Amino acid sequence: MPSMIRNSTKAADSLRGCLVAGLLCLGCMALAGCGVTEIPDSVVYPLRSNALVFLEKAPATAPPGFPPPGKPEMSLDWLAEQQVPLFKPSDLDAKPWGPVWREELNSVLVRHFGSPGKPRVGAADQPALATLAAELFLSPAELERGSHQYRRSCLHCHGVAGEGAGATSAWLNPLPRDFRQGEYKFISTAEHKLKSGFQPLKARPRRADLLRTLHHGLEGTSMPSFALLAEEDIQALASYTLHLAIRGELEYWGLLYALKEDAETLRAIEKNPEKEAQVRAQRLISGALEWEDPEADVEEFVAREKGPLLTAGLERLLERLLREYATADKNAMVPLANPYPADQPVPQTSIANGLKIFQVQCVNCHAGYGRQSALRFDNWGGVVRPANLTIPVYKGGRRPVDLYYRVARGIPPCGMPKANLQDGDPAHQVWDLVHFLMALPYPESLPETIRRQIHGGAKQ
Ligand code: HEC
Ligand code: HEC
Repeated sequence: MPSMIRNSTKAADSLRGCLVAGLLCLGCMALAGCGVTEIPDSVVYPLRSNALVFLEKAPATAPPGFPPPGKPEMSLDWLAEQQVPLFKPSDLDAKPWGPVWREELNSVLVRHFGSPGKPRVGAADQPALATLAAELFLSPAELERGSHQYRRSCLHCHGVAGEGAGATSAWLNPLPRDFRQGEYKFISTAEHKLKSGFQPLKARPRRADLLRTLHHGLEGTSMPSFALLAEEDIQALASYTLHLAIRGELEYWGLLYALKEDAETLRAIEKNPEKEAQVRAQRLISGALEWEDPEADVEEFVAREKGPLLTAGLERLLERLLREYATADKNAMVPLANPYPADQPVPQTSIANGLKIFQVQCVNCHAGYGRQSALRFDNWGGVVRPANLTIPVYKGGRRPVDLYYRVARGIPPCGMPKANLQDGDPAHQVWDLVHFLMALPYPESLPETIRRQIHGGAKQ
């Protein structure tokens, strides 16, 4: 684990972390009478308590550094200093309707996702959800197996609800992923639209992407490979990760709509101040309905709805999220055929062309080929460094096709855009970039002039 950082001056914090981990283990063992992976049915997923970050665009100023070990939440303070709005779930308590909203949100989450011991996706009495869940391999039996394995292998980093704050997490850089925003970095999904013509709410991974991450780990980070597990366990873990991500994202939208103060929401509330909760639920419903029908009539939906409005909206949103994952799975990116002959060495002109494109589109972030990259905020409110591309360590995989996916799709939650392949011949452009990236760390693979420019006198 090369990136694990230990800071001896933070002994008190580290001791507290160990005690919490120790108590958790003892607690589980005392309750279940056996290993730490058994969990009683009374254990429930905690509701989100940390702030939600909604970065519509990256803040103008770079973060001052990585947060120190043990203090990952410090990056949120830096964002707040830059006036980036942070939404705190505890702000709900100040609203007269807040506690009711929270309770309703929680009961929807429990109804549709169960508990760590009895996980599910979609209550059994909703056939539309059950069909989609089955399509995504999210049956209760699969999830129970995944949950069991998750407690053994993932919980100490990714946490009970997938919040990325397990007992080990605060000392790792990069931090274990918070799954609860439904965002992933390493995806091979082609850009696509939903039936309605709308974009998916987030760039979704394919199941194959989760499986790749589990088989290979994320190189250069503490996220290990789980290739030694049985394939059935890896499959179950992919399903359980999806369960946590979908649960977390439904919660995320449920909290965001309660708290966000964008101009449109504020205007709607102003017209009807005594019905703020209803207005906010209606805004959530319109987002939930648009996946199937851009003209969906929210007022008609509301008039027809007999039960609580937020619940109805969240259930439609859950259907949308499941639909988005199922649609993503059918939209694999198909790489353009490599125009260079496979049985000959990569021509030096291809590498030189790749460098030219890189200098226009990539050096802004990957300054000095990534050796002098400035830090950036990511969509979780954390800090990330654009990769040093002179070192051949790639989180998302080292095969040419992995680099192809990164270049052609970008890394959405880190603000890395897809390469612009509009002008000229896209197949040449994208493969030139991949060939350049693959040669970049190895001086002897680069044309002489480029080698001197990038590596000085070094030969290897
Ligand atoms: C030692 C800590 C650690 C353990 C154990 C661990 N992870 Fe991770 N995981 C990480 C870190 C760190 C990242 C994020 C790396 C980054 O964003 O650069 C991550 C990221 C991920 C991602 C996101 C991939 C993407 O495309 O964005 C998935 C999915 C994931 N982990 C699943 C799992 C599962 C499932 C397990 C258990 C089988 C597991 N992890 C165990 C540390 C861990
Ligand atoms: C807006 C900033 C930005 C731009 C522009 C950008 N990148 Fe990145 N790139 C990043 C960040 C941030 C990361 C690190 C993501 C992480 O570690 O989680 C990254 C990581 C990478 C990686 C490593 C992927 C891996 O698997 O670890 C590659 C390769 C890459 N970028 C290539 C490119 C290329 C090629 C271009 C130009 C076509 C480009 N980037 C443009 C921000 C950017």
